[in-house]
Amino acid sequence: MPMTAHALPDAPCHLDGRWLPLNQAQVSVLDRGFLFGDGVYEVIPVYGGRLFRFDEHMARLAHSLDAVRIPNPHSRDGWLALLRELVARELAHSGQGDQLAYLQITRGVAPRSHPMPTGLTPTVFAMSQPHQPPGADQRREGIACVSARDFRWERGDIKTTSLLGGVMARQIAADHGAAETILLRDSGHGLTVTEGSSSNVWAVLDGALIGVPPSHHTLAGIRIELLRELCEEEGIACHLRPIAESELTIADEILISSAGREILPVTRLDGEPVGHGALRGKPGPVYARLHAAYERAKLEQSI
Ligand code: PDD
Repeated sequence: MPMTAHALPDAPCHLDGRWLPLNQAQVSVLDRGFLFGDGVYEVIPVYGGRLFRFDEHMARLAHSLDAVRIPNPHSRDGWLALLRELVARELAHSGQGDQLAYLQITRGVAPRSHPMPTGLTPTVFAMSQPHQPPGADQRREGIACVSARDFRWERGDIKTTSLLGGVMARQIAADHGAAETILLRDSGHGLTVTEGSSSNVWAVLDGALIGVPPSHHTLAGIRIELLRELCEEEGIACHLRPIAESELTIADEILISSAGREILPVTRLDGEPVGHGALRGKPGPVYARLHAAYERAKLEQSI
């Protein structure tokens, strides 16, 4: 028996049309996901047993699949049925209605060779885990981040399972006792923010929320459009434009967003407190309003 450092859970999962416990699910060693990281994925929040911003996640999945030429194995309604069954099974298993659903599609199984073989049956895997949204301490204190050069590849628009760059980037934060690494690249006009290792990055400058426009360097996070909508509702100005490294040091607030972390305030960057005056090193008012609006959106936008 192979030794594993962590006991694998027996939660229900879906693999190629079958339902089975996670600790019994196995794929071929010739799966291109295993050999090449040749696959794409999505992480979809589930609140009260319902999928949050489902159609937006499906649109991004379609983009990722298309970009790497893997046929989409299911229609929108097919994915909805599969994911609803997954969520219901996990709810029966754990009793938790707040979950993070994960789905992964790889190109499939074939003898190892770099070019993309055609005609393969994609491997479809889905699991869902109980999700604890960020705790009261993180919301009260904020999180610490570090910054680092973005050494990942030039197709950050594809949500691919080839995540070694992201894993290495996140480990920089872990090595410094921080929660996330904010990545910077040379844009030709100095360093600008791309994103976090697994989150999007926002700055509050002159009362406006500034986000990085999605590109080949920055994933089109589902929370980018969501936060734009929430800003509109709240009457907060919101612009997508490059954020210079120097702007992080003068920002009133810095935020990150992702499916799992929702929206969180960054209160220390590279060891220095973020913000000014009485709010230096503390979560700010824009964060507080957007967090409240996010909580409302969870109830209104889950299906
Ligand atoms: N990651 N940028 C990167 C590189 C990401 O991996 C993620 C999310 C985001 C935020 O996107 P969204 O708002 O759609 O979650 C931005 C997921 C949560 C993960 O890999 O677990």
